[in-house]
Amino acid sequence: MPTLFDLLGLSAPILQAPMAGVQNHRLAAAVCNAGGLGSLPAAMLSASDLQTQLQALRQATDKPYNVNFFCHAPPTPDADREAAWRQQLLPHYQALGLNPSDIPSGPGRVPFNHETAEVLASFRPAVVSFHFGLPSFELVARVKSWGSLIFSSATTVDEALWLQDHGADAVIAQGLEAGGHRGMFLTSDVSTQMGSLALLPQIVQAVRVPVIAAGGIASAAGIQAAKALGAAAVQIGTAYLCSDEASTSALHRAALQSPAARHTASTNVFTGRPARGIVNRAMQALGPISPLAPAFPLATAAMAPLRAAAEAQGSSDFTPLWAGQNTAHIQARPAADITRDFAAAWRD
Ligand SMILES: Cc1cc2nc3c(=O)[nH]c(=O)nc-3n(C[C@H](O)[C@H](O)[C@H](O)COP(=O)(O)O)c2cc1C
Repeated sequence: MPTLFDLLGLSAPILQAPMAGVQNHRLAAAVCNAGGLGSLPAAMLSASDLQTQLQALRQATDKPYNVNFFCHAPPTPDADREAAWRQQLLPHYQALGLNPSDIPSGPGRVPFNHETAEVLASFRPAVVSFHFGLPSFELVARVKSWGSLIFSSATTVDEALWLQDHGADAVIAQGLEAGGHRGMFLTSDVSTQMGSLALLPQIVQAVRVPVIAAGGIASAAGIQAAKALGAAAVQIGTAYLCSDEASTSALHRAALQSPAARHTASTNVFTGRPARGIVNRAMQALGPISPLAPAFPLATAAMAPLRAAAEAQGSSDFTPLWAGQNTAHIQARPAADITRDFAAAWRD
């Protein structure tokens, strides 16, 4: 029986993970044109930037693609916590010559909403994926009305069951090894988080919908292991970070290709939510997990000027160097070649 991924016309079920901040339509198109499912991350795009990116993507490929959104509940700002956090950052502002009273506050990322859905409506992507659960019932119904498939990340068996019950057509089992934000949404207890080898087969056993394996997969053997454990597809992020078409900064690329990339940790100091990145000075000095960091995405605002000032001096001390644990297979070459090798590994 054809799988959902056969119906999408992919040469193999290789999904390029959406990675906000390090890629745009170029990487997505390269993966799509090589027979995988490319993804456009929209978490940090305004509605008009989303429109521009989608137009460029549609011009660059006629293949199916995925558009990805965050769907967190926006937090209520907490003035005391914000003040305590800024106090904690004060020595770093001073060291970099920043005036703390000039630092703005406000959200760093806006969840999927009717304005972005309006833009999406004229493109009708084959797949729309979400991180941090699903948007409201109305928004899910609206996306489905275009014929788009809905995928979302689960970090526990309970989250996978919840997503299936609330309309997800496939569940992404996001193991603890994964780079970037943990997609956790039913719990904030990090002790619930499992590695891919434990999480994937338990989700496969629990749900009826296809399961996409994510987290730590970066080689032919990793792809075959995910397949053996029951994955219907794999979603791969870190392995594409140094591909020619990624927009990963030079500082980030240098860190990814250095011995420092062997040490990653989950940290909330950059955004307020646990996310995996290469351990750097900010994570060591402030976390990696800080009880003072404002709720996601509010922590972003106070960190952004530190990042900008340090980067202007050629330093990644305050840069979120998002990366998964499996950095040994990072490849600096065209994304199409990476995708074709991954597809061949799936078919072997
Ligand atoms: C730099 C980076 C940015 C990411 N941004 C997003 C994002 O915007 N949306 C999302 O759903 N997942 C995001 N992720 C998580 C991926 O979807 C996926 O879970 C992860 O890359 C899989 O693990 P791997 O990095 O070990 O391949 C990001 C991952 C990385 C490395």
